[in-house]
Amino acid sequence: MAKRHFKTLIDINTQEFKRIIKKAIDYKSQDRANTVIKSCNNKTLAMIFKKNSTRTRVSFETAMYKLGGHAIFLSEDSSQLKRGENISDTAKVLSGMVDLIMMRTNSHDEIKSLAENSSVPIINGLCNLFHPCQLLADMQTIAEIKGDNFNDMTVAWIGDGNNMCNSYINASKLLNFKLKISVPNGYEPDKYTLDKFGENVELCEIPGSAVDGADVVTTDVWASMGDEHENDERKKVFKSFQVNMNLMSKAKKEAIFLHCLPAHRGEEIDDAIMDSQYSVVWQQAHNRLYSSMALIDFLLSSD
Ligand code: CP
Ligand code: NVA
Repeated sequence: MAKRHFKTLIDINTQEFKRIIKKAIDYKSQDRANTVIKSCNNKTLAMIFKKNSTRTRVSFETAMYKLGGHAIFLSEDSSQLKRGENISDTAKVLSGMVDLIMMRTNSHDEIKSLAENSSVPIINGLCNLFHPCQLLADMQTIAEIKGDNFNDMTVAWIGDGNNMCNSYINASKLLNFKLKISVPNGYEPDKYTLDKFGENVELCEIPGSAVDGADVVTTDVWASMGDEHENDERKKVFKSFQVNMNLMSKAKKEAIFLHCLPAHRGEEIDDAIMDSQYSVVWQQAHNRLYSSMALIDFLLSSD
């Protein structure tokens, strides 16, 4: 079979997305029963991190371990990337030694360059434009709690039109759910993504209209990695976009709250919601492990 990459969610189709979610749910129960088959025996994943991570690093490293393989962590500072070796040369070298490459970087162009120059599947572990791995875990979490009939669901995105928001747009297209987005003026999601994949998206001026009747409410930090210098300005602009009890009370009674984490409590989310009965953020975070296992399995069996 042809080599597959996971640069964005659009690299997979609807059936494959649903298959990965189902496999992730299977891996979770197998892991709990200690019956995971070590399908990655002798396989290695290289993980390049040009930005910080807790969940992505730990989930992929643990996923490889549980599948019987091995993961190698490469930071920008400790590798030759720091001394100017470019991504295309790095891809040519690494893909001759490992079976999968994951990278977290600020530049989607670098993700594309990695894919173009790698002879093994690559995974986007977050870039300026997308965070597709997180969406696998988010959709797994929704499926576990609400079932996998995504086309009956409304998801509200509140806050910054960032990498997570763009990936939600891609997911809404693939899984056919309604996505209501409320962001401040000037912080809209990527225009190309919205134009090309936003057929199920409704842009709402007021956060309350987006959350009204929603099954799922989600948000993310107001200043993503790389935007921290705009922190003070963003705190002012985003003030009325906080997800708190007042906003959440407009969603359906049985609605759930998701956050990719890390959260800035007191900014985009208040403590009351993070620790409320609406919040499924710990289940969501733990699902990063199982969705990473399912993604690795998918990419290696397509290779
Ligand atoms: N959600 C997420 O990707 O977390 P990390 O930045 O800790 O990897
Ligand atoms: N939008 C956030 C997501 C972190 C997982 C960022 O890019 O920093």
